[in-house]
Amino acid sequence: MAKIIVFTDLHIVPEGERIIGLDPYEKLAKGIDHANRLNADADRIVCTGDLTNWGDPHSYRRLKEILDRSAIPATLLLGNHDNRGEFLSVFDDAKTDRAGFVQSSLDIDGWRLIFLDTLNAPPYDFPEAYSGYLCDDRLSWLDAELAGAPDRVAVFMHHPPHDIGFPGMDAIKLKNGDVFYEVVERHGKVRHIVAGHVHRTISGSHRGIPFSIFKSPCHQMPLDFVNVDPASSVEEPSAYGILLLTPHGVLSHSEDYEISTTDFQSDVAALGVGGLRA
Ligand SMILES: [Fe+2]
Repeated sequence: MAKIIVFTDLHIVPEGERIIGLDPYEKLAKGIDHANRLNADADRIVCTGDLTNWGDPHSYRRLKEILDRSAIPATLLLGNHDNRGEFLSVFDDAKTDRAGFVQSSLDIDGWRLIFLDTLNAPPYDFPEAYSGYLCDDRLSWLDAELAGAPDRVAVFMHHPPHDIGFPGMDAIKLKNGDVFYEVVERHGKVRHIVAGHVHRTISGSHRGIPFSIFKSPCHQMPLDFVNVDPASSVEEPSAYGILLLTPHGVLSHSEDYEISTTDFQSDVAALGVGGLRA
């Protein structure tokens, strides 16, 4: 069984800046320290995009500083707040496909993890580039990765490839999700899709394939099915996701790592003889 930790939408900013009063650097650092203490047996951390808020090299270097203290190796994906060139200038050992997109795959315990680059840039023209896009080059790469994969595949990407029920976010999802699903369905191997972008914990299925989206370590999106502006944010507890990949499927957990002021403890005396508290 493989254990994968998902941090999404980190939005690291230059020193001194904050987002709705929160310090993304400090919030992520706490999450990495938490994972080091309680989930150091994980096989991988996957960061599903919006690694920085402005796509600037200084923020990427600050992110590198935090990840350097992680006991678990990390794979980084790009989101609409990222800049591919600036990212690669700092993370110069990041894997790319032959066309230079930040796409790669990792085979682990009978699963293939496929990491997609849905950044719809260059050009970095906003608001157009808020949405995600997979060009023909990236879709061909995905097609080949699926062809050579075992029959258990999990796909990681920043932009959800389908609506999630928030009008503001649905307007800036992956633009060509239908084409993406056509490629996926051609192979019948994708058992789970993990996305970011929304800053909320959401799960369900689309076209028969289950998906998970997790909260950010920093600012979250308010739960509003009518008026959600993609720029609206709220302070709720920081979280990361934990996926357990078994021979039979995927178990998807969310860890709100700032709620508890202490790590879990076992108090055998308080259980009583044969007693359980859960
Ligand atoms: Fe984000």
